[in-house]
Amino acid sequence: MCGDCPEEIVSARKGSPLILGVGDGELMLASDVAAIISRTQNVVYLKDGEILHMTAKNFSITTLDAEDVSPVVDRITWNIEDSELSGYAHFMEKEIFEQPAALENTMRGRFSEDGSTAQFGGLNISAVDLRQIDRFHFLACGSAWHACLVAEHLIERFARVPVEVDYASEFRYRNMPLGNNTLFFTVSQSGETSDTLAAMREARRKGYKVLAINNVVGSSIAREADGGIYQHVGPEIGVASTKAFTSQLLVGAMLALYLGRMRDMNFSDGVEYVQALKAVPDLVRKTLELAPRIKEIAQRYAHFHDFLFLGRLSLFPVALEGALKLKEISYIHAEGYPAAEMKHGPIALISEHCPSVFFVPSGEMFNKVVSSMQEIKARKGKIIAVATENCDLPAGLADEIIRIPECHEAVLPIVATVPVQLLSYYIADELKRDVDKPRNLAKSVTVE
Ligand code: G6P
Repeated sequence: MCGDCPEEIVSARKGSPLILGVGDGELMLASDVAAIISRTQNVVYLKDGEILHMTAKNFSITTLDAEDVSPVVDRITWNIEDSELSGYAHFMEKEIFEQPAALENTMRGRFSEDGSTAQFGGLNISAVDLRQIDRFHFLACGSAWHACLVAEHLIERFARVPVEVDYASEFRYRNMPLGNNTLFFTVSQSGETSDTLAAMREARRKGYKVLAINNVVGSSIAREADGGIYQHVGPEIGVASTKAFTSQLLVGAMLALYLGRMRDMNFSDGVEYVQALKAVPDLVRKTLELAPRIKEIAQRYAHFHDFLFLGRLSLFPVALEGALKLKEISYIHAEGYPAAEMKHGPIALISEHCPSVFFVPSGEMFNKVVSSMQEIKARKGKIIAVATENCDLPAGLADEIIRIPECHEAVLPIVATVPVQLLSYYIADELKRDVDKPRNLAKSVTVE
C-alpha cells in the first residue's frame, strides 16, 4: 500500500502462490484457497510475474510490462461446510473421521468397466508410452514422502518396475544418473510446497515428463505438471496431514494396479485387487470404531517423552508417519524404524520409559515382527501392537493390542494408519496442545 493511494492494494506473484478471492462485495488475498473458502468459492490464480491492483470494489491484473491480463475467475468445488468444524473439536479430528468418504471420492469413476484395473483421466501419457517406462522417480516432502515409500513398495511388487523416492529438497542437489525412460511423479497435498515445485521444475528442465498427485485443484504444481491425478478429498485444514495422506496411499495403490495390469498382473488378480480397493472405505469405517479404546490408551501413555514406531515392508513408512504425527502435534519425541533395524541403535533407548508401537501383519512377516517385540519386552519396553485380526500374539507380549481388520496388502497401510492418527490426536489433545496449529509448522511450506 502507498500513502498516496490509500484505497488501493498492489500485490505481485513471484515464486510463492498468490490467489485473489472474489467475494460478495469484498476481495481477499491469500496463498491458499483453504484460507478464504469460508467467504467465497470464486478465485483468480495469479501467475508468476503478474501484478494485481485492487480497490474495495474492483481489481485489475497486469504483467510486469504493464500489459492488461484478462482475469479468469475459477469456481472452487469445495463446500463451505468443508471449512467448518461441524461439531468436531478440531479439524484434525474431523478429517480423520471424514476418511471413508474422502477415500470414496478418490476412487470415484476410476475403475475400468470390466472391474480389473484402475483408470485415470488426466495422465496425458498414452498406455503405449507408459509401457516403455522402465523407472519411476517420486519426489515429495513430509507425509507425502512417506506415501511415496508405500507406492514404491506396491509398484515394485505388483508392476515389477524399479522406483526411486527422493525428498524433493535433496533431489535438486544430488547428482544421480536418471536414465532415459524415467517418468517422474510429484506428490503434494497443497501443490504449493516450494521444494517439491522446484524439484519438479528441475526434472522438467532436464527434459523429463512429470505427473503430479495433488489435492488442491489449480495449485502451482498441478498447473505446471504434464498431467496427473487429483485426490479429491476436499480441503485439509489441520496442519497434520490425515485424509490427504491416506488418499495418497490409495492413489499409489491404484497406480500400482494400473501399471501392474499393463504388465504381468492377470485379469483375476486385477479383479481381486479392485475389490480390495473398493472395500477400503468400510475397513476404515470399522477401524474408526476403535476410537474410544484408542483414546483410553492415549490417556495412559500421554506422559511418556519418547516413542518408537516399528513396522516392516509397506508398514515401515506407516511407522515413519505414525512417529511424525505424534511429534508434530504433541511435541513428544518419536522415531520410526524398520522393525528389525531397531537392534542397530534405537534399542539403546528402550526401557520402561520408552514405549514402542508395533505394526503386526499376519502372514510371512508375523514371526519376524514377534521376535523384534520379544527383544523390546526383554528390556522392559512397553508395547502397543497395531495387529491384524488373525495375528495370534503370544500372551502377555503386548501391553495393548489394537485389532485392525485383515485386508489385502495393497490397502493394509491405509487401514494401519488410522489407529496411529487417532493415538497421536488423543495424546496431543490430552496434553492440551493446539492440535490444528502446532508450533513452528505450516500447512504449506512455500519457502525453500
Ligand atoms: C508441511 C505439512 C505436512 C506436509 C508437508 C508436505 O510440512 O505440515 O503435513 O506433509 O508440508 O506438504 P504437501 O502439501 O506438499 O503435501
